[in-house]
Amino acid sequence: MSQLPVTTSIDADGVGWITFDDPGSRANAFNPPMLAALREAIAGLEGAAGLKAVVLVSAKEKIFIAGADLRWIAALPDAAAAAQLSREGQELFGRLAALKVPVVAAIHGACAGGGFELALAGAWRVASDAKETTVGLPEVGVGLIPGWGGCVRLPRLVGAAAAAGHILKAALVPAADALKAGLVDELAPAAELRLRAKAAALRLAAAGLPVRAVPPAAPAEFFATQRRTASGRFRGQPAAAALDVIERGGGLPEAEALRLETERFAGLATGEAARNLIRVFFLKEAGRKATLDAWFAEPAPAAAEPFRIVGVIGAGVMGSGIAQWCASRGLGVILCDTDREAIERGITAIRGLFKQAEERGQLTHDQAHRMMGGIGVSTSLEDFDVCDLVIEAIVENVAEKQKLMANLAKIVGPDCVVASNTSALPLEELAAPLPHPGRVVGLHFFNPVNRMPLVELVLGPHTSRATAERALAFVKSLGKTPVVCRSSPGFFVTRVLFFYLNEACRLWEQGVPTEAIDAAMREWGWPMGPMRLIDEVGIDVTDFIFGEMQHYFPDRFVSTSICRRMLTAGMKGRKNGNGIGFYSYADDPEKPNPAMTQFVPVARAALEAGTIVERLNGVLVGETRRVLAEGVLKTPDDADLALLLGAGFPAVRGGLMRPAAGGQ
Ligand code: NAI
Repeated sequence: MSQLPVTTSIDADGVGWITFDDPGSRANAFNPPMLAALREAIAGLEGAAGLKAVVLVSAKEKIFIAGADLRWIAALPDAAAAAQLSREGQELFGRLAALKVPVVAAIHGACAGGGFELALAGAWRVASDAKETTVGLPEVGVGLIPGWGGCVRLPRLVGAAAAAGHILKAALVPAADALKAGLVDELAPAAELRLRAKAAALRLAAAGLPVRAVPPAAPAEFFATQRRTASGRFRGQPAAAALDVIERGGGLPEAEALRLETERFAGLATGEAARNLIRVFFLKEAGRKATLDAWFAEPAPAAAEPFRIVGVIGAGVMGSGIAQWCASRGLGVILCDTDREAIERGITAIRGLFKQAEERGQLTHDQAHRMMGGIGVSTSLEDFDVCDLVIEAIVENVAEKQKLMANLAKIVGPDCVVASNTSALPLEELAAPLPHPGRVVGLHFFNPVNRMPLVELVLGPHTSRATAERALAFVKSLGKTPVVCRSSPGFFVTRVLFFYLNEACRLWEQGVPTEAIDAAMREWGWPMGPMRLIDEVGIDVTDFIFGEMQHYFPDRFVSTSICRRMLTAGMKGRKNGNGIGFYSYADDPEKPNPAMTQFVPVARAALEAGTIVERLNGVLVGETRRVLAEGVLKTPDDADLALLLGAGFPAVRGGLMRPAAGGQ
């Protein structure tokens, strides 16, 4: 007989153990078989003689319960089925809560969504202090609300305002923070978790359930403010639904509050936003597991030799960001720049990034100090013979990069992989001077490196599978998501993004006001409009890349001239928070720069927001289709993922090549 995902046993002290261990997976996630098995388990304990207490525990190494399987939710046919799913879980957890004995959750590993709602149904929660233990309700992030009692039980445990904070933030918090926030009651070393949970269970069985102070209700103004803040965001819908259940449910008996939760959950679960966000969740998951099988005819080598010492050339914005990120992952780094002052600026920037990581609690002071110590600096390439990966991030200039490659070829060892961080130059041009072009690959990081999750892994015509495999493993080991593309000017993201920005400039030149263009795209979901994005990238950089695009796509890329004219007038966009571009940062950064009227060739033209969106998204879709037809990317999913992670495409739209953006 195959093993059940939930099993029970009662030990000699009268403690019933409910163990979650999905036999078909490394994780535990609620799905119909697991829910059915839990129902059986609870039924078995309901009538058990001599039962004093119950402990919930997972047999997995890193997961308590990761929540409900999103595949299950994505397949729900309609709102009635979603309501049924919510009721089933609520009823089951309710039976657990109503057992005549105390229920204690022993949490080790991720305890998310439905997993945490299960734990909330118990009387006490003990969490292991291991780093893999995280707790929270992330449903709002995928367009849902907790629908198995989380919106009702959490406010009754920690108060309405705190519960709203957790549910709207939709994040998993480490065990120590969960203890501080009252999400769990006790921490224990992982090795002692079961013992401590059992001790707590027996203590509660002997002394009675804990009497908890009634947490404070939140005033109506709190909810009004939260609703206002949420309404402008694309998490607005689920956030408003969660606030509703927390506020109205707070004044209702539990059963009625749960009915309200079901109603609001069902209203969201099969809606467009949730469907799209769940799709994005799976896209990201697939991206993290990307392989190179579709790119090479020959099989993968047995194991990709990992990189230990990374040489980074160019200590500017990108080079210093890459060096810091590699060091933060425990790699040895040599950072080289011909300009001593650039190295000093780079090191200052790296120090700042480590400090930031410390302040955010991502690293301890000692860790940051040690990692900083792992970065050596140099003004020459001499020391690079020890590197097994070199990433060049010098100025975007073919001749300079070729010269550098030729020098590198004389220094690095025969197994060293040579990577370029160029954002647009075809790899084959850069690799031309190298005697072994098979070891050249593109690693296109995005700015800022510590925050942008995407790396385009660019394969040149000669890149060997062994090189590509090592690079792929490297990107994954950095915690970044790779999207593999074939070398071609601008690869994918730079190419389509600058076609899009050029079209935005064309609209502007045709008289559509800056604020109308930006507001239309923001309203559609982009984090910022294209004119603002040009200011952020820099008018100079934008103009330069427009030039490159025109050079490489002479028959299709007709560069607009506004950026060139702005540059001539001394406008470079937002540089270090100051500066002047489509907006004026010294005055009011929210207001379009009044001096731009000097360039307007025609009277300002009104254009409906929908038309602006259609035109600009249309350019993105059209160019992406070409990229796919040319084989620069393999699948529309790759395109969707790259724009989501590399260009801030709004997740709530599901992806560029989906109907919402005109992609299908
Ligand atoms: P940057 O101008 O901030 O830094 C370039 C650095 O390279 C300078 O410090 C310069 O002194 C140094 N350098 C120039 N020639 C050198 C040589 N032969 N040997 C050693 N050092 C040399 O440039 P940034 O923005 O960091 O860009 C670097 C590369 O990354 C470019 O290829 C760019 O296209 C690409 N990139 C830039 C992004 C951005 O947002 N800035 C995003 C993604 C890629």
